[in-house]
Amino acid sequence: MAGEVRTLAMFTFQPIGYVRSPYKETREIPKGLGAKHEAEGVLELLPEFEPGLTDIEVFSHLIVIWVFDRAQGFELLGTPPSDDRPHGVFATRSPRRPNPIGLTVVELLRRDGPRLRVRGLDMLDGTPILDIKPYLSSVPLETLRRGWLAEAEARKGR
Ligand SMILES: C[S@@+](CC[C@H](N)C(=O)[O-])C[C@H]1O[C@@H](n2cnc3c(N)ncnc32)[C@H](O)[C@@H]1O
Repeated sequence: MAGEVRTLAMFTFQPIGYVRSPYKETREIPKGLGAKHEAEGVLELLPEFEPGLTDIEVFSHLIVIWVFDRAQGFELLGTPPSDDRPHGVFATRSPRRPNPIGLTVVELLRRDGPRLRVRGLDMLDGTPILDIKPYLSSVPLETLRRGWLAEAEARKGR
């Protein structure tokens, strides 16, 4: 709006823990159409945050919010491995984003104190974790639209 002063707030986050993943390099992580993420590993919380895991065992799936700490810079338009056409960064899950924040839904297998054994990792070993939340999706499958990804899948199936 004309005359409006926009202040850009900065936010500082500290990791609550780190991902212990079998993936040491990005090329080891499945990518592209039909890629399945079934790797198991551990979300290892720092000891001071362990009380925050109280009652987490009853959830089957968790949302993990984390940092693409090994991504360099960002691009607003890019061609993802799942398509041969460019898309805006906010219409993709690219690691190269203005705020390099990743989000992965994992299955919780068990808890050992501050360590959560999970399945479904797509992060590198040592990735910093910013937050963990229970996964409670309320979007019915019939209302979910998968945009360009569904189109890319349909083209591949042709
Ligand atoms: C396409 S992104 C999707 C990540 C997450 N599921 C999301 O939607 O935000 C997954 C890719 O990020 C890259 N990656 C994983 N961990 C990373 C890290 N710590 N730093 C930079 N890139 C990473 C790997 O190339 C991996 O294949």
